[in-house]
Amino acid sequence: MKKLTLTAALTASLLLAACGGAAGGSGAPKGPLSEERSTAFKSFMPTFSGMGKVVKGDDAYHPEQFKAAAAKFAEEAAIPFQFFENDPQGNGDALPPIWEHPEDFQAEQDKFINAVKQLNEAAQTGNLDTIKAAYGEVGASCKSCHTTYRRPK
Ligand code: HEC
Repeated sequence: MKKLTLTAALTASLLLAACGGAAGGSGAPKGPLSEERSTAFKSFMPTFSGMGKVVKGDDAYHPEQFKAAAAKFAEEAAIPFQFFENDPQGNGDALPPIWEHPEDFQAEQDKFINAVKQLNEAAQTGNLDTIKAAYGEVGASCKSCHTTYRRPK
């Protein structure tokens, strides 16, 4: 009984959290730093998704193209993290644990940057199996960070 009540209360507060914030739908207010972060994440998506299509077998594997994409991604992937400071005008979908536990967030970020580096190294070898495994690690790292540090969508 007690458990049920607690669950209900939690659900209610989660729903409130999900609905609260800026008018017009998703997310909380976004200040300029949060905008920069989102823009940087969105601008690396074509490179990341392009490699994903090759990894899934939807697009043909052209080693030279893939090498170039992975090298480009290694640069693009670092850019959003230049803008991870608490934005006084609103943090968008970036959650408080980022500012509350900066060392943990840094570790999550380092794990990601390292996975991206490994993917680039794998790409330069031209071995598709190694590439697939490395791409999987990068994807897992995106997900891991979003689970803890980004507002659920
Ligand atoms: C170390 C943490 C972290 C990692 C790693 C990370 N993200 Fe994010 N991502 C975030 C946070 C936090 C936000 C929200 C930023 C904001 O709203 O200010 C975000 C936002 C985004 C957005 C913008 C969404 C929108 O609609 O505004 C996209 C797209 C995105 N991430 C994709 C990815 C992908 C793909 C990867 C992996 C290749 C990735 N992210 C890796 C933390 C991370």
